[in-house]
Amino acid sequence: MKHIPFLSLALAAAVTFVACVNSSQTTVSEEDWIEQTLAKMSVEQKVKMIHAQSKFSSAGVPELGIPELWCTDGPHGIRPEVLWDEWVQAGWTSDSCVAFPALTCLAATWNREMSALYGKSIGEEARYREKDVLLGPGVNILRTPLGGRNFEYMGEDPYLAGEMAVPYIKGVQANGVATCVKHYCLNNEETHRHTVDIDLDDRALYEIYLPAFKKAVQEGGSWSIMSSYNLYRGQHVCHNKRLLVDILKGEWGFDGAVISDWGGVHDTDEAIQNGMDIEFGTWTDGLTMGKTNSYDSYYLADPYLEKIRSGEVGTEELDDKVRRVLRLIHRTAMNPAKPTGSMRSPEHYAAARKIGGEGIVLLKNEGDLLPVKADVKKILVVGENAVKSMIVGGGSSSLKAQHEIYPLTGITERAEAAGATVKWVRGYVGSTQNSYNGVKSGQDLNDSRSTAELVAEAIGEAEKADLVLFVGGLNKSNHQDCEGTDREGLELPYGQDNLIEELLGANPNTAVILISGNPVAMPWISDAPAVIEAWHGGSEAGHALADVLWGDVNPSGHLPFTWPATLADCPAHQDGMTFPNDGKTFYSEGILVGYRWFDTKGIAPLFPFGHGLSYTTFALGEARTSASAIRKGGSLKVSVPVTNTGDRAGAEVIQLYISDDEASVLRPEKELKGFEKVCLQPGETRTVTFDVKEEDLQFFDADKHEWVAEPGTFTARIGTSAGAIATTASFNYSR
Ligand code: GLC
Repeated sequence: MKHIPFLSLALAAAVTFVACVNSSQTTVSEEDWIEQTLAKMSVEQKVKMIHAQSKFSSAGVPELGIPELWCTDGPHGIRPEVLWDEWVQAGWTSDSCVAFPALTCLAATWNREMSALYGKSIGEEARYREKDVLLGPGVNILRTPLGGRNFEYMGEDPYLAGEMAVPYIKGVQANGVATCVKHYCLNNEETHRHTVDIDLDDRALYEIYLPAFKKAVQEGGSWSIMSSYNLYRGQHVCHNKRLLVDILKGEWGFDGAVISDWGGVHDTDEAIQNGMDIEFGTWTDGLTMGKTNSYDSYYLADPYLEKIRSGEVGTEELDDKVRRVLRLIHRTAMNPAKPTGSMRSPEHYAAARKIGGEGIVLLKNEGDLLPVKADVKKILVVGENAVKSMIVGGGSSSLKAQHEIYPLTGITERAEAAGATVKWVRGYVGSTQNSYNGVKSGQDLNDSRSTAELVAEAIGEAEKADLVLFVGGLNKSNHQDCEGTDREGLELPYGQDNLIEELLGANPNTAVILISGNPVAMPWISDAPAVIEAWHGGSEAGHALADVLWGDVNPSGHLPFTWPATLADCPAHQDGMTFPNDGKTFYSEGILVGYRWFDTKGIAPLFPFGHGLSYTTFALGEARTSASAIRKGGSLKVSVPVTNTGDRAGAEVIQLYISDDEASVLRPEKELKGFEKVCLQPGETRTVTFDVKEEDLQFFDADKHEWVAEPGTFTARIGTSAGAIATTASFNYSR
């Protein structure tokens, strides 16, 4: 062995030690890196970072090695690439995606594991496409069933929306991609979303409209948040002092970046002072006015720079904005630990199918029509939504999917595997829209036949079928499930109600399957033996639906909103209230949103919040509490045994609601404070236990500006929907 002098060894060891020390010194903390980088930046470099440089990107600092920040829609999948300053797709051939189910479907799973799977999967697709910020999820509260974008959100209850958003956020961000939770806040309708000026009492703000965003920030740790178009108390939310500075960054301690909705910024001074960090999508005609770059005309671009250079404003606010943008870049574009991501993988399609199947809600199933029986050999499928793309259209969540399994495709595949034949008839002509932002569905749905001809054909065929599957609902065209417009009524469009009634008359073995993101009126409900809400299921919609129809998947979805019988029953549509709203608008129903209204007013909905059936049955035993009281800062456990009393495996969603029996203020009859999806084999019993904490008893005292639990008696109400409370247990709270 070659002899190496001692001195050489010592020198080698010393060099190694110094190198290690040096390398450890180069790994500065995130905050130290931010400060060091900020110190190197000029004012011009800082201003360039706080507004867009293209439709979906903001500038980095090339000379300092700071990368650009790239955003992408949307909450259900990764938008196709666009040209530098365009909405229309660029026409790449490598950017198709998996379209995951709409978020209302995810919420309808009531399964946090599905949300985690969703976030992981869509985060991997964003990562693969080298995106830094995913513009989603949306957690705005469903205040009215006419809201055009409700399909992108997670229903009417702030607890459910928050609980279902957190795993999605964590799943996405584990890929080194930021979520941008939207649209913060009070963006509950579309038609006049840029000019509607919302006001409401603080209890409603803090108890209903903020909690999902607060949970997304404090528990989900979202690295960015999107401020909404509307105004709040006369000030645009994109530069609203109370919402952005006092609450989001002050009370909640949000350390991420506020990204404007596209075109949501309208004032330089307010944007400087009131917490706007990155301005996107502003409508400037800088390009047409000879400017080299319309982006220099943004409110936080040259106008801001001029104010700084003139000494009109300092740079303290600018540095705060840049710190937040640098932190966002450090967590994403510069994150050395990012995984590689993946796109259009079998795992992602399997996730889309599983989430879709778990979200489908069996609303009604009398006469045991479903699942499809083995002796059903002739199936008639009726309806445009059996064949219409629901992925192309609907606004910024529109996608270029690699494939879309339509309901008819999924049904036909499954039926033929069971030895049955399938025939499809149009039934009605709704929307022949087949493209959006340059993405084409490839369908030509033009049909010159009259309604009478279409109905006659459907009836004639229905009389000959063993089973009729009507597939209708809404679609992604204007005034349906579509950004920028709201629905004009609760009714199904295109004459579907009449067609459904005719079909039920021709063949009572007719199941009604709705593809929608919102509830619809059902004048035919008493005659319909089976009704399913199948949502917008994305790329695997048809497979997920067929899985449930044939019972390969036992339905376990539950409604994330109340399904009203009529619009007049809804809190946002009472006498004297207007819709859509524009200008000053007061949410006079206050905290009584959704089931909180129906419970308190004693109005029976068509289907209650949290409703969903299974092909098996479940029984809940008596609720038990671990103690008779909760003391200040304490908690207690409420347990309930759940048994699968049917003959097949299935999952049930056990819901915990809390009632304040002695409130000194108006409080809803009950409020959702816990849920657990439990899968049980036939005959199996399992005990579900909830931890009830002091915070679950509180309401927001606007006068004290704090959360308060009042001493007295409370009741835990446990059941499988807001309208199916099976067992209760009372306890006391004392300070
Ligand atoms: C749209 C939407 C927002 C979307 C953004 C970018 O107007 O309101 O949800 O992420 O612009 O497309």
